Amino acid sequence: MNTLPLYRQLANHYLDAIRSGTLKNGERFPSIRLMMEKHAVSLSTAVQVCRELEGQGVLEARPRSGNYIRQPEPLPHPLPPAPLAADAYVGIHQQVSSVLKASQRATIKVNFANPYCAPQLYPLKTLQDHMVKALRQNQQLLGTTAPTSGNLALRNILARRALTSKTHLSAEQIVITNGATEALNLALRAVTQPGDTVAVESPTFHGLLQILESLNLRVCEVPAAAHCGINLFALEQLLRGSEPIRAVIVIPNLQNPLGSIMPDSHKARLVQLCAEHATVLIEDDTYGDLVDTEQPLSTLKHWDRSDNLIYCASLNKTLAPGMRLGWISAGRWHDRVEMLKHSQSRGCEALSQLAVSAFMKTPSYERYLRRLRNTLTQQRHAMRTAILRHFPQGTRVTEPQGGTLLWVELPPGYASMRLFHEGLKVGIQILPGDIFSNGPGFGHCLRIACGAPFTPRIEEALATLGQLLKNQK
Ligand SMILES: Cc1ncc(COP(=O)(O)O)c(C=O)c1O
Repeated sequence: MNTLPLYRQLANHYLDAIRSGTLKNGERFPSIRLMMEKHAVSLSTAVQVCRELEGQGVLEARPRSGNYIRQPEPLPHPLPPAPLAADAYVGIHQQVSSVLKASQRATIKVNFANPYCAPQLYPLKTLQDHMVKALRQNQQLLGTTAPTSGNLALRNILARRALTSKTHLSAEQIVITNGATEALNLALRAVTQPGDTVAVESPTFHGLLQILESLNLRVCEVPAAAHCGINLFALEQLLRGSEPIRAVIVIPNLQNPLGSIMPDSHKARLVQLCAEHATVLIEDDTYGDLVDTEQPLSTLKHWDRSDNLIYCASLNKTLAPGMRLGWISAGRWHDRVEMLKHSQSRGCEALSQLAVSAFMKTPSYERYLRRLRNTLTQQRHAMRTAILRHFPQGTRVTEPQGGTLLWVELPPGYASMRLFHEGLKVGIQILPGDIFSNGPGFGHCLRIACGAPFTPRIEEALATLGQLLKNQK
């Protein structure tokens, strides 16, 4: 039982909030009346709380205005800069979490880790206009709940657009999600149990490794290459082995981080292999719409004849990362996915979906995508050339046919994790190869994103990274 008088307990409560940064220097402190109301205390207790805090030098009374937080000495940063404890992320892929945390603590001036395009490349004004119009036309929108599966008009548009990549998705079988991240989570939860083994490409998207670990799934990594994606021979050996593989997850088009595009013959064979072994195939088509060519790439879903595939995709790279819209088409697992989505988070909010579907149904959407792809082609080319100019001799860089990502392979003896930490100290963020695998094979690789226009500042940052690498020798 707390033996301190009530006013001291309350004063300590607010002192903690000031120390942790929840209440900041210069902010208004709750009024006496509000404290009496919210904490059910008397007038004299509320006044004593303020006196106590004034006595400690953290509250200042301003005549006719109220009490304000005053912190003469700067308080320590709310996130202690201490190194992470080794067991801070037990249960989550530790390398990934530590890298993300270190990045959050740093002051980033040039971000090569972010796979999205620069905000000015997205049609933000158009989307804002569609939002305003949608709110005007649906005045009760914010007062009503959205359907679990998402807005039907948007699902219709997504199904119709899929036809151009020879993919049949029915609008009734699409569920709108909070990005591809939620889609992948739902797919895995629908078809696996904790302890099951899932095969992935190696290297692969670090967020996927986190999802798998957070669901207590075992991961089996299958080598992948920049020219063709997952190694089908290695996958076949794995599927024929003694350990049951419950699911295979691949990013067939513009793989993250390799940028690979699987040839159609590989796609067809992969679908067939998984069906033969009763292993569920999960397709992550996050980047498909960013391919350089006018002809859309075929999806794995196109080759699926036995309803053994779950398709996941996203608008977060192509249209508006701030809206967090993705989707899943789960075939025979549709009802289960819908139930999981309902129990996990309910339907995604409606306003973004209305605005996006209003834009996507106009011809402007295709024109916008074409412009975006052209811009990304130029940015990738300029970045790739600059990396080869500034990085140590012998550096190799992928040459993907679309998207925002370059995978850089350093010559022997260079360490990308060291480059990552040294880069953060000078405000430059990259992603070290180590986080794209649970194994040790990619310590000499790094991922550089080209979503931002190539400027002298970007070139200078690449030159700095090159110099940091040369200092490693
Ligand atoms: C291959 C891949 N899948 C899924 C995601 C997550 O996408 P979203 O932002 O739509 O959740 C990403 C994000 O970088 C990705 O690269």
